[in-house]
Amino acid sequence: MADTEQGGIRFILDGEQVSVGDLPPTTTVLEFLRERLGRTGTKEGCAEGDCGACTVVLGELDGQRIVYRAVNSCVRFLPTVDGKELVTVESLRAADGALHPVQQAMVDCHGSQCGFCTPGFVMSLFALYLNESAPDRESVVRTIAGNLCRCTGYRPIIDAGLRMNAYPAPQAWSRIDAQDGGRRAALRAIRRRQTLTLDSGPGFYAPVSAEELAGLVQQHPDAVVLAGGTDVGLWVTKQLRDLPMLIYVGDVADLKQVRETGGTLEIGAAVSLTDAFSAIVSRYPMLEEVADRFGSPPVRNSGTLVGNIANGSPIGDTMPFLIALGATVQLRRGSRRRDLPLESLYLGYQKKLLDPGEFVETVRVPLPRPGRLFACYKVSKRIDQDISGICGAFAFDVEDGRIASARIAYGGMAATVQRAAHTEAALARKPWTRQSIAAALPALSQDYAPITDMRASREYRMQVARNLLDRFYLEHAASTTAPCRVAHV
Ligand code: FAD
Ligand code: FES
Ligand code: FES
Repeated sequence: MADTEQGGIRFILDGEQVSVGDLPPTTTVLEFLRERLGRTGTKEGCAEGDCGACTVVLGELDGQRIVYRAVNSCVRFLPTVDGKELVTVESLRAADGALHPVQQAMVDCHGSQCGFCTPGFVMSLFALYLNESAPDRESVVRTIAGNLCRCTGYRPIIDAGLRMNAYPAPQAWSRIDAQDGGRRAALRAIRRRQTLTLDSGPGFYAPVSAEELAGLVQQHPDAVVLAGGTDVGLWVTKQLRDLPMLIYVGDVADLKQVRETGGTLEIGAAVSLTDAFSAIVSRYPMLEEVADRFGSPPVRNSGTLVGNIANGSPIGDTMPFLIALGATVQLRRGSRRRDLPLESLYLGYQKKLLDPGEFVETVRVPLPRPGRLFACYKVSKRIDQDISGICGAFAFDVEDGRIASARIAYGGMAATVQRAAHTEAALARKPWTRQSIAAALPALSQDYAPITDMRASREYRMQVARNLLDRFYLEHAASTTAPCRVAHV
């Protein structure tokens, strides 16, 4: 059994170390702030990561730098901020009451009316303020993709995001101040070297090594493996479920790594979607839009790539392109490891090929290879913060004018994301022509029998699936690569 440290959760708030040991591990950061600390500047709008009213910023030591990122406090369990710095809208006010430049800019640009959403916008823009000294409009718009406002129409808020760097540096929370040596020392002082154990409620473990994680998951096969909590959090906040023991992967240093190894990009189970997409898009630039439209920055800052895979939603956005590219997952149970193609992980709706006590340790994404034609299209009703109605991904190798290999995967077309085996077979070794594609389209009806739900009808899904394959051909008939696009109805 791993050496463990008792003594509760420890984090930094307004320069002070806060310790909490008596709350259930599924207490959200938002509940703690509002109900325990009376810090009601952070609001609750939806309690499901959708509106941004609850946005706070987390600072985490990464080598010599503190990385600050906006997260949704409503779906973030309090124990996961252990060892980090928590910044809320109240933190930004200077000792003499002066507003932070972000706040001043929101006032001067009339970025607030009823004010309910305002703290969330301020914190999203504050994270941008710390990370970019001269953001352009595109960057401001992307930053607030997870914040909803029903009053202002957003233009004044975007103006505030563009103006906030024009003010003198604040006494508190300037970019320099944020990297202050004292702040780094305070985080080093609370960094854990052993598993955090919380006995309150169903129990919570946060191991710091993959060995300990493997041992704990094997020892507690009924525990919920917790990564970013952007799915699990809603089981508590929306489904009101009582959860069993939680085993948190987020503090396992070796699983926070992205490595190039053996012609693949190996991404650990604790790597956030933000960091995973940054690594993947740098190799596959055509995936930039799919990455940008995955949830919102706070969701991607907390959520993980492996969490999306392990959650296994039929409309999970990363699995279509990962399966089309031939990604594999490494499963681990104690000291036993096994690799399998990602598509083999899914046995049916929310059923995975995971033995009791087994977890997903890494996912391996093949690096780009010359001549491969690849695209992924997400079709959703809204650009931001929307789950796919259907998502199609295509990876073809064309040699001497013929289709040497076709890998096709769709999300939203079946109980799991799955390959189009009949359609792939209908295309194998055929000439790379629109006629070949047209002749293979009927095979899609052998591969999928989609449902009708609130996102799309079965007829719509089938038609769009055909259109996306045809579009893939049209976009690649001439060139070898084309940008990956998000189509929205
Ligand atoms: P968690 O919630 O921590 O876990 C998810 C599931 O995976 C749980 O069952 C957990 O037990 C299991 N699990 C996690 N890690 C492991 C592991 N290593 N081994 C075994 N099991 C594991 N999803 C999309 O696909 N596209 C979107 O656009 C999108 N938008 C969203 C918007 C909002 C507002 C929210 C709240 C969610 C959205 N999601 C979206 C869903 C969610 O963010 C993703 O599925 C995310 O990748 C889950 O990762 P996580 O780390 O938060 O997983
Ligand atoms: Fe809406 Fe958290 S309360 S995102
Ligand atoms: Fe009212 Fe944004 S100012 S919701």
